Amino acid sequence: MKIALLGYGKMGKIIEKIAIDRKHEIVLKIDRENQHELTTENLQKADVAIEFSTPGTALSNMELCIMAGTPVVVGTTGWHGNIEAVKELCEQNSGSLIHATNFSVGVNIFFHVNKVLAKLMNNYPYYDVQVEEIHHTQKLDSPSGTAITIAEGIIENIDTKKSWANVLTTGSDEASNDNVEDSSEVLIESFRIENVPGTHTVIYDSEVDSIEFKHTAHNRNGFALGAVLAAEWIQNKKGFYSVQDMFDFSIK
Ligand SMILES: NC(=O)c1ccc[n+]([C@@H]2O[C@H](COP(=O)([O-])OP(=O)(O)OC[C@H]3O[C@@H](n4cnc5c(N)ncnc54)[C@H](OP(=O)(O)O)[C@@H]3O)[C@@H](O)[C@H]2O)c1
Repeated sequence: MKIALLGYGKMGKIIEKIAIDRKHEIVLKIDRENQHELTTENLQKADVAIEFSTPGTALSNMELCIMAGTPVVVGTTGWHGNIEAVKELCEQNSGSLIHATNFSVGVNIFFHVNKVLAKLMNNYPYYDVQVEEIHHTQKLDSPSGTAITIAEGIIENIDTKKSWANVLTTGSDEASNDNVEDSSEVLIESFRIENVPGTHTVIYDSEVDSIEFKHTAHNRNGFALGAVLAAEWIQNKKGFYSVQDMFDFSIK
């Protein structure tokens, strides 16, 4: 498979290595300095594009892929407020797109179990729930897209929760949730600490005990492998997909 890498930062470089290990070929690498090479003609030389750039550049990169007819795997976070417009553009132009706030297999298992747990905890309203996420200090968006997906899974299943609110703590600041007092909100506490690839914890807390459900990424390889698997999966498909369409978590 011929792959175009849109974004050649921390993730783009690991994706390149895993793709080559899986016998794929990288035919285009786009970074900030060579954006002029991101043309329809160059995109059409690839069987699939993998987009891990920045929240500010992902939308136009996706649009270019859709218009070029090149299937695209989108890992960049921070653009999901525009998801309906991208879906419409993709469907109107018979494009192929798969997106995820987190491509790791382990995190997608976590997302699934998070929903099952939330449905169960809906019966026990004396537990309140919050989400905690820790990432490296270069991360541009907060809360993480992964934490938002976790919060959405909780909101879908706990009747008293209607929205989420975020508190960001960087460096040595003490976390403060003084400004989040609305009990219909799921609080997402974001921490930024050097060299942390991504840790997410869901905490149910009552007067008598706490239940914690946690995922810790040891490195970025799991996200990158998931993105390459998604590229293999979408290559001959048309339509707008999320990573959950790739997995079957039903228990037989
Ligand atoms: N879905 C997942 O599984 C997953 C996992 C990890 C990360 N992510 C997300 O993926 C994105 C990238 O993460 P990262 O850690 O690789 O970030 P990064 O190291 O900052 O890399 C982003 C790269 O995109 C480049 N870039 C800037 N403008 C561009 C443009 N117009 N077209 C193409 N590339 C451009 C940047 O170049 P310059 O350095 O020159 O600015 C940089 O090299 C983030 O949104 C992150 O949250 C998703």
